[in-house]
Amino acid sequence: MNFQYILVEPRYEQHIALIRLNRPKELNALCLELMAEVRDALKALDADDEVRAIVLTGNERAFAAGADIKQMAGKTAIDMLLIDQFTTWDTIKKIKKPIIAAVSGFALGGGNELVMHCDMVVASETAMFGQPEIKIGVMPGAGGTQRLTRVVGKVNAMEMVLTGKFITAERAYELGLVNKVVPVELYLEEAVKLAREVAQQSPLAIRLAKEAVLKAYDSPLSEGLEFERKNFYLLFATEDQKEGMAAFVEKRAPDFKGR
Ligand code: CAA
Repeated sequence: MNFQYILVEPRYEQHIALIRLNRPKELNALCLELMAEVRDALKALDADDEVRAIVLTGNERAFAAGADIKQMAGKTAIDMLLIDQFTTWDTIKKIKKPIIAAVSGFALGGGNELVMHCDMVVASETAMFGQPEIKIGVMPGAGGTQRLTRVVGKVNAMEMVLTGKFITAERAYELGLVNKVVPVELYLEEAVKLAREVAQQSPLAIRLAKEAVLKAYDSPLSEGLEFERKNFYLLFATEDQKEGMAAFVEKRAPDFKGR
């Protein structure tokens, strides 16, 4: 897959694909073209049966320093409405395969929002998270006020969104924004390790389980539980359920085929 602003390795490892944001001079600022490439790459990997987990990363200095301010600076409200950039983000939200963010350096504004579109997050000790849009006279637009609040709670979200202050990786861990914090030289490796653990499971079970966890974000508990139950029943129609349970009984490792 050839792109201008990202590097994609669909076969980074068996069943694991890697997407690397690659605008280093601009700290991976998320221009519209880069976001369109991320969307297209994710869609292609989602449709690729060999891929069972996707790792999304930047570089050591920056995961992404937010939407491209230079690209937005002169725009009017109507320009922004017509550009309709958030439809791209909506597509990313709908990716069925698990996405693991490997974050080092800045994850700011749209960068932090992109992290929050991922399903799990491994951060380097040097990672910094923030929603600094307030400092440039705007506010988060790709879910920052909503997803962040659901994860870290009202007062913490308010502090980040209203002051624009960054938080450290350690604080992000305390607040539940990231799964683990590791030394900088290990952040990608640890994210891949997590991806490997996910990729060993039944892809169908992973898909329906991801869908069910995400359902918890935007439905009342009773609806979410109903949804979960249907997905649980559905998995008994898969060969992987038969294989997984037979393997347990026979005391051997399962061989999941994704059927
Ligand atoms: N957009 C465009 N360019 C950016 C950028 C951004 N978000 N962030 C950094 N850059 C560019 C800088 O302009 C600079 O380019 P030049 O060398 O051509 O001047 C280059 O990247 C390196 O940046 P700095 O020299 O500023 O590096 P630093 O180490 O001094 O500071 C920083 C790093 C604190 C991250 C600082 O760059 C910064 O504050 N960036 C902006 C962060 C921000 O406000 N993000 C939110 C954007 S709005 C948004 O994301 C809306 C939304 O919800 C979708």
